Amino acid sequence: MVDRIMILPFGVILIVVLLLPMSATEPCDMKADVCEYKFIVAYQLTMVKGKQLLKAVNGKLYPVETVNISTATPVPEDEVITMDGYSESRLVVAINGTIPGPAIEAYIGQTVIVYVENHLYASDVTIHWHGLHQKGTPFMDGVPYVTQCPIVNGRGRFYSQPGVHNEAPLAKFTVKPGKKYRFRVIAAGALYPFEISVDGHKLQIVASDGFELEPYAADVLLINPGERFDFIITANETIGNYWIRGITTEIKKNHTFEAILHYEGAPDEEPNSSPKNCTQDDPSDTPDVDCRGDPKKNYCNDAAWTNSNWGGDNIPGIKLKRAPLKDTLIIPSGGYAVIRIKADNPGLWFMHCHIEMHSMMGMAMILNESFVDVVKAPDYFPVCRSFTPEAISRIPIVAETSTSRASESTTPSIYQKAESEEDRKIEIMTFGILIAVICVLSLVIIVLIFVLSKRRLQ
Ligand SMILES: *[C@@H]1O[C@H](CO)[C@@H](O)[C@H](O)[C@H]1NC(C)=O
Ligand SMILES: *[C@@H]1O[C@H](CO)[C@@H](O)[C@H](O)[C@H]1NC(C)=O
Ligand SMILES: *[C@@H]1O[C@H](CO)[C@@H](O)[C@H](O)[C@H]1NC(C)=O
Ligand SMILES: *[C@@H]1O[C@H](CO)[C@@H](O)[C@H](O)[C@H]1NC(C)=O
Ligand SMILES: *[C@@H]1O[C@H](CO)[C@@H](O)[C@H](O)[C@H]1NC(C)=O
Ligand SMILES: *[C@@H]1O[C@H](CO)[C@@H](O)[C@H](O)[C@H]1NC(C)=O
Repeated sequence: MVDRIMILPFGVILIVVLLLPMSATEPCDMKADVCEYKFIVAYQLTMVKGKQLLKAVNGKLYPVETVNISTATPVPEDEVITMDGYSESRLVVAINGTIPGPAIEAYIGQTVIVYVENHLYASDVTIHWHGLHQKGTPFMDGVPYVTQCPIVNGRGRFYSQPGVHNEAPLAKFTVKPGKKYRFRVIAAGALYPFEISVDGHKLQIVASDGFELEPYAADVLLINPGERFDFIITANETIGNYWIRGITTEIKKNHTFEAILHYEGAPDEEPNSSPKNCTQDDPSDTPDVDCRGDPKKNYCNDAAWTNSNWGGDNIPGIKLKRAPLKDTLIIPSGGYAVIRIKADNPGLWFMHCHIEMHSMMGMAMILNESFVDVVKAPDYFPVCRSFTPEAISRIPIVAETSTSRASESTTPSIYQKAESEEDRKIEIMTFGILIAVICVLSLVIIVLIFVLSKRRLQ
């Protein structure tokens, strides 16, 4: 399992107009060098099957006009985007008609080519491969010039008031007693952090953002938009049903997603388990950062390290050896993070708040890394506003070889460039980010400040 990566596309953003028929294998054949997938991005309606509007009753779906449930046959739920299960159909953007979209499962070293067809009526689309570093192919990173549409992940229920919901079917994870299970959680949301827990079970946290962590046992894990966490649970509790919960960290709100951990042999019913009650730690202050801003305004726009000697590798007290490798970080209100980047991936990289509306408001910057070494996009690659028939006709047709070894010769050379450019100068950047958050009528205004110090090793 460890050598297999699994990606769920969760963001619809820009480009890719390669219109090719192809066959997808899932997961990719272990012996193949290249795996090809085709994604069709299109609008879909929730809670419909064909043109039939559905309603949810007692965990099952029925045509909306069904009067007597006991004589009706439920509609298979795997063909329906249930989302929050609310019977007023909503327009969503889906890949191949599913949310989350189809999984890509590949082995380390394999090249994955994804053909994306844009079936949205009037929108550009890109797919951003969060966490995949696009070494040698920075032009495939998919950062849009248009709004990124948040795609809601998973299935859920619409609660009209506490305890009253519309009975939409929930995801159920069936486990065998005594076995261990690895869960991979992707926060594909746009705004809120979620506290994830499984009633009656400890979460052994083993990886985040695609990298292993020193295992850590927790009752609850906090995940933010864009982050991923892997945890293992041991199915050693009393045979039964347990709630899997994700609760937003909103104050005085109870927005919860639910799924069911179902032990084999347990009755097919909803859990009545309760969560472990955790206490909140005291928030810590940030003495390392001198805000120098207007204290009355409660934000920092002129931040510096309190200790002016900080910089380069001189950051006492910070664990540099075996520090966690992350691509998405939680910056608590009034807090900061110290990040080290090894500049070995020339490109223009979008660094942004992963709360999507903050990103849209401009809480973002571009890291301009080793500009002279940035691999240029191939000539035929569409540039903004070049989606003319003439420009598209210049896109070469890749032979339909799919998962065979022979496909190497027919793969465009852009896909092979990554390996040959190891010997680049290394530049290490150390910097801190300080964010202060002000909440005004639930509108969050964030000011992002970079304290940047740069040290050239060669
Ligand atoms: C998506 O749908 C298209 C069209 O039906 C199909 O050719 C393709 O294989 C599907 N892709 C995946 C990843 O299932
Ligand atoms: C539903 O159908 C069942 C079986 O025919 C019948 O026993 C029951 O009375 C019906 N319920 C309603 C509300 O009509
Ligand atoms: C279940 O397994 C976990 C992790 O191995 C362990 O900490 C816990 O004590 C076990 N619980 C029971 C009831 O055996
Ligand atoms: C929050 O909602 C969930 C289900 O939506 C429920 O199980 C839980 O008891 C609620 N918690 C509180 C504190 O109201
Ligand atoms: C947590 O607290 C609630 C409310 O006080 C209680 O009903 C529930 O049983 C507690 N859960 C556990 C696992 O102790
Ligand atoms: C990146 O840096 C190079 C060299 O300093 C500069 O020419 C280029 O315009 C920069 N790109 C952006 C997007 O700022």
